[in-house]
Amino acid sequence: MKTIGILTSGGDAPGMNSAIRAAVRTALNKGLRVKGIRNGYDGLMQGDIYEMNVSSVADIIHKGGTILGTARSSEFKTPEGQKRGAQILEDYGIEGLIVIGGDGSFKGAKALSELGIRTVAIPGTIDNDMGYTDFTIGFFTAIETVIDAIGKLRDTSSSHGRAVVIEVMGRNCGDLALYSGLAGGAESIIVPEHTFSIDEIIEKMENGKKRGKLHHLITLAEGVGDPYSLARELEEKTGIETKVTILGHVQRGGSPSGVDRLLGTTMGARAVELLYEEKTDIALGYVNGEIIEVSIEDATSKKSEFNEKLYEVANSLSR
Ligand code: ADP
Ligand code: F6P
Repeated sequence: MKTIGILTSGGDAPGMNSAIRAAVRTALNKGLRVKGIRNGYDGLMQGDIYEMNVSSVADIIHKGGTILGTARSSEFKTPEGQKRGAQILEDYGIEGLIVIGGDGSFKGAKALSELGIRTVAIPGTIDNDMGYTDFTIGFFTAIETVIDAIGKLRDTSSSHGRAVVIEVMGRNCGDLALYSGLAGGAESIIVPEHTFSIDEIIEKMENGKKRGKLHHLITLAEGVGDPYSLARELEEKTGIETKVTILGHVQRGGSPSGVDRLLGTTMGARAVELLYEEKTDIALGYVNGEIIEVSIEDATSKKSEFNEKLYEVANSLSR
């Protein structure tokens, strides 16, 4: 192995830069050449590839986003596109590739591995929706962002005696709504993994009001339902004014938390060691405090398990 490539793909996540920095520096320390591929598989298809050196990754450990850029590519989803991608990598002399991204990006990495490119995949997504790993890079920073927003919304909601529905990201996964709702002290948490009862929320709102509670904070995972119709119904049935805040892409940005920097750094360095040992088709994860290695197929086929215990704790604390 003489030359490796690195790309970030899918939605960006804080901590991707920590992984890029660790991978590039570890590779250079081993005497490998490193090529950065801009804008994920889309950049690969266009041959948007450049030589990286120590300075390419200077001063980035604390930066949100990804210095490599990211994108989605429909061409790369096709077998022809993947063949063309593998050929471009070969043309650039890239024998090993590090892919940092979510589930879709991992499937692309698997396809390249089947086409003879050695690949290691690193989980980067704020959604924490990958079942084979306890946590993905970016999740903890996004939690901090949501907690910050919840705190601010609590201030204004209490001042006005209002309720607020806070829509958070997560695609089909309720982890961000659950963890940030629990850590932020939300009274109600709505996730795709559980059917929710509007009557229960109404009861909580009314009981809270009777006890002199001045706010009711609800985290709602995106995709579960329309936050505006939920707020309207709650307001009509309780008489408590209910606002909506959609946090949106603000959750994807920001300086990575300590945990995300550590996850990115350890996984970035490990990915290079594996490629250096000529390994392929490996997904790195974090389970019970250890960095683990599984096949990409195993990583993508394991369904994300919802943390029922945490959900119960959240519900029991907010009665
Ligand atoms: P994420 O990696 O965050 O899940 P996407 O699902 O958007 O994000 O996937 C990112 C990119 O990975 C897609 O634009 C596409 O190029 C590639 N990809 C997604 N699914 C597949 C697949 N089944 N096979 C090959 N490549 C895929
Ligand atoms: O994968 C992360 C994520 O932030 C999801 O939670 C969200 O549904 C999606 O990406 C939105 O991404 P974009 O607006 O970039 O398509």
